[in-house]
Amino acid sequence: MKFFIDTANLAQIKEAQDLGVLDGVTTNPSLMAKEGIKGQQNILKHYLDICNIVTGDVSAEVVATNYDGMISEGEILATLHPQIVVKIPMIKDGIKAIKYFTEKGIKTNCTLVFSSGQALLAAKAGATYMSPFIGRLDDVCTDGLKLIEDIRIIYDNYGYETEILAASVRHPMHIIECAKIGADVATCPLSVILALLKHPLTDSGLAQFLADAKK
Ligand code: G3P
Repeated sequence: MKFFIDTANLAQIKEAQDLGVLDGVTTNPSLMAKEGIKGQQNILKHYLDICNIVTGDVSAEVVATNYDGMISEGEILATLHPQIVVKIPMIKDGIKAIKYFTEKGIKTNCTLVFSSGQALLAAKAGATYMSPFIGRLDDVCTDGLKLIEDIRIIYDNYGYETEILAASVRHPMHIIECAKIGADVATCPLSVILALLKHPLTDSGLAQFLADAKK
């Protein structure tokens, strides 16, 4: 299973990269705004800064919602750095744009996926990654993990190569359950990745070993 970090915070990206288990980064306009990154040149520079920290794929989202706009924005993003993956929303023109970039050999991440039907369309268009937002589904009393399960079955039935990128991950059990189901990637805040480390028996066991080592 690949681990991506879901942030535009350079310090957190560096911390996750230094851990040695990071496979990539996902960003979105909200995460960029949270870091105070504004204006096209600053945004592009920030994506480059991220690419210079990590070795894996870095999703950079278009903000246009029409086909021509998504193509021109996506082309600028894709030429910025070979690690950039063009992140495109699950809308009608988005599907057309994903198809366009797929045919040009440019990686895409289809975002804002909330149903199996949307996931099927993203795979048909050839998306590299497809991002179901499991936490946001849980927020509205709908089982986000069940969606991952359904999509895994559908993709396996037909051998679609689109990777299931579980997004909107809120806690470590989301990662564990996604791993059991067979999601290809989980993108998470740093706190959720670090939460995987924790166990009270590890802490007490280590304290005991260290105490005994002094005897
Ligand atoms: O990057 C998309 C997704 O991971 C957003 O998560 O926590 O805003 O629902 P969240």
